[in-house]
Amino acid sequence: MTTPTQLTLTRPDDWHLHLRDGAAMASVVPATAQQFARAIVMPNLHPPVTTAEQAVAYRDRIRAAVPAGLKFEPLMVLYLTDNTPVDEVKRAKDAGVVAFKLYPAGATTNSDAGVTDLRKTHKVLEAMQREGLVFCVHGEVTDSEVDVFDREKAFIDDKLIPLRRDFPELKVAFEHITTKEAAQYVSEADHFVGATITPQHLLYNRNAIFMGGVRPHYYCLPILKREEHRVALVKAATSGDPKFFLGTDSAPHASHLKEHASGCAGCYTAPCAIELYAEAFEAAGALDKLEAFASFHGPDYYGLPRNTDAITLVREDWVVPEELPFGETVIKPLRGGETLRWKMR
Ligand code: DOR
Ligand code: ZN
Repeated sequence: MTTPTQLTLTRPDDWHLHLRDGAAMASVVPATAQQFARAIVMPNLHPPVTTAEQAVAYRDRIRAAVPAGLKFEPLMVLYLTDNTPVDEVKRAKDAGVVAFKLYPAGATTNSDAGVTDLRKTHKVLEAMQREGLVFCVHGEVTDSEVDVFDREKAFIDDKLIPLRRDFPELKVAFEHITTKEAAQYVSEADHFVGATITPQHLLYNRNAIFMGGVRPHYYCLPILKREEHRVALVKAATSGDPKFFLGTDSAPHASHLKEHASGCAGCYTAPCAIELYAEAFEAAGALDKLEAFASFHGPDYYGLPRNTDAITLVREDWVVPEELPFGETVIKPLRGGETLRWKMR
């Protein structure tokens, strides 16, 4: 098959995104709004977005940061805690919030207020199942005895399987899957389960973190895994299975906090997100599968309309900026200073 020199896609959405708040948020919203029509905005602010009222106020702040002339709709998510009141589910639904997020306490950036024991949230999960809200899960156990590379698999066995037994009709979006076990679990699950896959997990294995020295910009959670897992994720993303869809997990952190003795987890991919996915799909000989993964499966899963406008990608070399402004400081995008082969027009 010859590679096309131009690709037109229905405008994609990003089903997993971090935007932060304040000046940092204002610095990163334009990059996402340029490419995507909508994004699921993760609520792990400090303090987290735990109420419908906070989500509505945060949505207003994001909308105010969208550059004139661009249309971008933030889709809001509440951060589930051990103490989320059952009534919050109804308030969330009425406010247009689309999901709750599970951060197992201690799993990642700003997850201290997360859930310590899923049993404490059963009444809330029951209400979410009833109202048809999506439960987005960060699928890693937090037990420090479990090897960091095994935490996703342990989550499936110890948390996800029991959760789905208790709430078989709860929509569970398994976020940023990173292992062959997760890909297999999702592909064998019913339609209540979906999964997002990031560009970095499609393009890289864990060697990327250690190429000629520690590379903090390749450090995210869940961490990059072995090559066999990357291959399984590419197979899932390019399979045409509607349970797999685009979610960048673009997670901006100031450069000095990533290039640090205890560097923050997160890859900032928003400035070249769709281009990175195009590179991964092209390498798999599956560019024809990109549109469904990027633009159809996500809205279908969330029960939202597909976008009607389009974007164009052209085969053209360009260099990703090495550094960009980020509030008072700077940020380094993944692949900064490197040449990409696809460019969104
Ligand atoms: O790498 C990550 N960064 N993983 C997460 O789960 C959170 C995110 C962030 O907010 O920085
Ligand atoms: Zn995330």
